[in-house]
Amino acid sequence: MLGGRRIVLGVTGGIAAYKAVLLCRLLVDAGAHVIPVMTESAQKFVGRATFDALASEPVRTSIFDDVDPIPHTTLGQTADLIVVAPATARCIGSYASGISDDLLTAILVATRAPVVVCPAMHTEMWEHPAIQENLKTLVDRGVIVVPAEEGRLAGGDAGAGRLAAPETIFDAVKGVLIAGDLQGRKVLVTAGGTREAIDPVRYVGNRSTGKQGYAVAEAALARGADVTLISTVTMETSAGIEVVAVESARQMHEAVLERAEADVIVMAAAVADFRPTDISDSKIKKNEGLPEVLLEETADILTDLGGAKRPGQVIVGFAAETDDLIAHAKQKLERKNIDVIVANDVSAPRVGFAHETNEVTILEADGCQRHVSLRSKRQIADEVLNTVIQILAR
Ligand code: CTP
Repeated sequence: MLGGRRIVLGVTGGIAAYKAVLLCRLLVDAGAHVIPVMTESAQKFVGRATFDALASEPVRTSIFDDVDPIPHTTLGQTADLIVVAPATARCIGSYASGISDDLLTAILVATRAPVVVCPAMHTEMWEHPAIQENLKTLVDRGVIVVPAEEGRLAGGDAGAGRLAAPETIFDAVKGVLIAGDLQGRKVLVTAGGTREAIDPVRYVGNRSTGKQGYAVAEAALARGADVTLISTVTMETSAGIEVVAVESARQMHEAVLERAEADVIVMAAAVADFRPTDISDSKIKKNEGLPEVLLEETADILTDLGGAKRPGQVIVGFAAETDDLIAHAKQKLERKNIDVIVANDVSAPRVGFAHETNEVTILEADGCQRHVSLRSKRQIADEVLNTVIQILAR
């Protein structure tokens, strides 16, 4: 997910330095190339051997005893991101004032890469106006500050100032790195279950709520895409997403094909496979006897898209299954000639329709297969888009 991205992990001297070890692990596991830079005092809290063993390169500590005569500029120029965790009051003060009094602050001043600062200190220091003003200065300059949290502090104290959890910092880093990776791309997403009218008041429908599709649209927008969402349901969306309201499979089919030039198409909608052959113009009355509803097949939108796929375009389908998940998903991937299928077992707890969470397996046409364990639909959306990005880059 962070494949090959160069991240300088700055560690300064605070009791929370041990959490930087966990952060280092998360970043390396996500594929990042992590270069640890420790200050003098950080080494009093965590041994450099720990980072030497876990990170992608040995620890750097000084401008002067490095093989590279200008390690600060080299690291500052080549980093995709710099994260400082924990960031002490001294480090924040130096950075805000532009003082480069050690390797880490020299890198911070010498870089144009995005910087994520994660403060950690005692409550009295955290609340000191000088610290808050320094942080505000950094935020005004575009630095991302992951605020300190409340909790246990050194020396048995408790209060505000505790370093954010490694997972929170990891998410912030990931958010910054993936922020623009769909810049300039047109992404078309469908969401919700279609409604196939029987008469003016009744319809044949399904249990889809559209949450996963909306999450994909929001995630794509956050990554810089130009997003159109074709949906059967109305939910709040960020300004910037163009929403096209449809109801039936036929309307969705038309709306999608009109916009089929998109770079990426994600069919998260649950499109009806069958619709009533005839729609009664007036409400069918009970006293007219039992109505007979004949069904006919709808056109398969993905099959049409897959048949007309242009080079470089990425088409993603979803497969909501209750049994033989992977086998059914693979068949759909091939039959519809698409690039990715996101398979979810809708009979599993907290998975699929109406839930806030989902658990999926992402299958690619080249045979790659990746299981994504239970997490929020937004996180699933980002995982799907990570796969899309990888395919677009090939
Ligand atoms: N889909 C579509 N057009 C349809 C039906 C489905 O584009 N008329 C898309 C869905 O949006 C989804 C994928 O196809 O991305 C798989 O849908 P699903 O209903 O699971 O598969 P079907 O091909 O309809 O097969 P079955 O219902 O037999 O499982």
